[in-house]
Amino acid sequence: MSDLAALILAGGQSRRMRSPLSKVLHRAAGRPLIHYPVAAAIAAGASRVVVIASPKDRDTIEAYLVSAFGRDPIRVTVQDPPRGTGDAARVGVAALDASVRRVLILCGDVPLITRRDVEQLGSALASEQPLVVGTCQMPDPTGYGRILRNGEGRAYAIREHRDLATPAERAIREINAGVYAVLAEPLMSALTGLTPNNAQGEYYLTDILPVFARAGGVGTVDLSSDAVVGVNDRSQLAHVQDVMFERIAERHRAAGSSICRGACIDDAVVLGEDVLVQSGAHLRGNTRVGDGSSIDVGCVVTDSTLGAKVTLLPYTVVSESQIGDGCQLGPFAHARPKSVLEAEVKLGNFVETKATLMRRGAKANHLSYLGDGDVGENTNIGAGTIFCNYDGFSKHKTIVGRDVFIGSDSQLIAPVRVGDGAYVATASTVNLDVPADALAIGRARQTNKPGYAKALRERLAATKKPGSGH
Ligand code: UD1
Ligand code: CA
Repeated sequence: MSDLAALILAGGQSRRMRSPLSKVLHRAAGRPLIHYPVAAAIAAGASRVVVIASPKDRDTIEAYLVSAFGRDPIRVTVQDPPRGTGDAARVGVAALDASVRRVLILCGDVPLITRRDVEQLGSALASEQPLVVGTCQMPDPTGYGRILRNGEGRAYAIREHRDLATPAERAIREINAGVYAVLAEPLMSALTGLTPNNAQGEYYLTDILPVFARAGGVGTVDLSSDAVVGVNDRSQLAHVQDVMFERIAERHRAAGSSICRGACIDDAVVLGEDVLVQSGAHLRGNTRVGDGSSIDVGCVVTDSTLGAKVTLLPYTVVSESQIGDGCQLGPFAHARPKSVLEAEVKLGNFVETKATLMRRGAKANHLSYLGDGDVGENTNIGAGTIFCNYDGFSKHKTIVGRDVFIGSDSQLIAPVRVGDGAYVATASTVNLDVPADALAIGRARQTNKPGYAKALRERLAATKKPGSGH
């Protein structure tokens, strides 16, 4: 265990989001916002992370963080009622054990902060500089606390936006990023002295600055304006997500994949090498994509695994499914949950699978619904085939062997089996099992009536008044 702990402030009310959900649980690039500062703190060496949450969000935040980071480093503690960031820090500090000497304080709503940013703060911390504040020159500092510096340029206070008093203060563009590194002991005593003497009647964490300025010294680390954007409303949430998508794309480009602008790849997605992701494609959740695969415009892939050299043609949707090496899907194909496609499978336009296994080399090239099926190797499913899997009460399986040919516009009424090498004639309704190598024809026999159409036409014409049209 290191002597470094992190407090993540996340107990506020999120009024500006206009949402019943705490803002730190809103998602960007597939993860709740709170994930990012926690990840940055752990990556920077914090062995304990204390999250300060409201009573209503406590359990949700804890369940998420434990699933993402394990139980070991995570403590979630409740602040009730929310009386400001200083009060939140006080609640957090009370949950630290005595071995903690250095504390990182991060805001749950400042998600673009990186491990590097946090490490910079940590390494600037020293006994002659027991508080380090992350700052930034913001082109538009509206809403942020401003850094006040004395004649020697030393930071001595932070003035909140609503408490700005003079034109000189209003002109300051250097803002408080809401991230701090601080020695535990002086932090605790500074927090006990806070008073709610400001526009909002809250305990401001920022009021520890004058205390440190008098006693030891306040250091600042200048961070990039990208790193410090706080999410207070939905417009900032959208901005943060844009920045994240671009960062993630750059990460994959550096690792040898081509990511077009406008592709949206979630943080947890894993790409192999030489993957191509076109504009407007979304790769979501825990998705993995193998080497050399290509994902065209408008595809949405969620919680799925794609093998190597998979081709998704435009507007293909894949959810909770596994797609084997060399498969080709789309355009407009839809692999719904629990679809498993072995290698070299093809699904063409307007083909939907659900809980269906397509074995190696199987094909369904046009307009089909294949639900709860098992389709054998190299079997060809003709255009317009439907696996009728649902009888209004329960789902049943359609099992088709290898090297089978299902003629176009056939319905297979489950439960039903078609044996290896069988052939189902076009437009059949199959409700009986088909033995291996048999030909099944399940449709009404056609009758032709010679000359009947002509006779019909003449009879109808005779009954019509002249000039009445048709
Ligand atoms: C805060 C800083 C401001 C800084 C900005 C950076 C203070 C007083 N102000 O302002 O100087 O420029 O962040 O983004 O600290 N929270 C609690 N309990 C509370 C209140 C807030 O846990 O009682 C949490 C919130 O959930 C949030 C974080 O603290 O994650 C910051 O609170 P917020 O109300 O967003 O502060 P800002 O007004 O943005
Ligand atoms: Ca904020």
